[in-house]
Amino acid sequence: MNILMFAASLRKESVNKKLIGLSQNLLHQQKIDTLLLDFKELNLPLYDGDVETTSGLPLPALKLIDHLKQTQALIISSPEYNFSIPGTLKNLIDWISRATPQPLKNIPTLLLSASPSLTGGHRGLLHTQVAFTSCLSLVFPEMFCLGNAYEAFDVKGNLKDQSLQNRLQNTLKHFINFVTAVTPLRK
Ligand SMILES: Cc1cc2nc3c(=O)[nH]c(=O)nc-3n(C[C@H](O)[C@H](O)[C@H](O)COP(=O)(O)O)c2cc1C
Repeated sequence: MNILMFAASLRKESVNKKLIGLSQNLLHQQKIDTLLLDFKELNLPLYDGDVETTSGLPLPALKLIDHLKQTQALIISSPEYNFSIPGTLKNLIDWISRATPQPLKNIPTLLLSASPSLTGGHRGLLHTQVAFTSCLSLVFPEMFCLGNAYEAFDVKGNLKDQSLQNRLQNTLKHFINFVTAVTPLRK
């Protein structure tokens, strides 16, 4: 199994980058192959219908669509901005949703979030879930939201609270089972 992953933050010290990095390590322990993208390196321009009409989708969007064709599943860790999905992630979804066939169709997708708040970005993921569902992605109903994220990680990038790390590990295991179950839909 191979899984495409990225944190929807451009920040160097992003806690969502830490959470996606930890998730990648936990998946490697389960012998799952992953490809971790750097959201900043994607360098997507803002969606512009005139650009789409004259030149089609920009190269970064086409690259991402190519990755989606080759992956079995998608895991994203996203910040919550103003109780909702960050504009940068929405912009990415808007670009790739313009391709035919729909690149996110039937892609099992796990949503994670890290935030310094107590709720851990849960409200934002509810909106993120809607955008992915509109693109026919199979959003896994179980999500993992890490609160107090600025204090949550130890120096090795693990969660200081072992019970929380176990929960993340379990969510990943449940997601892998889900991916196995729905993979025939991609064919
Ligand atoms: C524009 C903006 C809006 C934000 N809104 C929220 C919010 O609604 N809820 C929340 O928990 N944190 C909010 N935050 C704080 C982010 O959770 C925090 O900046 C976090 O570190 C972002 O994730 P990152 O570290 O992965 O970049 C907001 C931050 C910004 C810049």
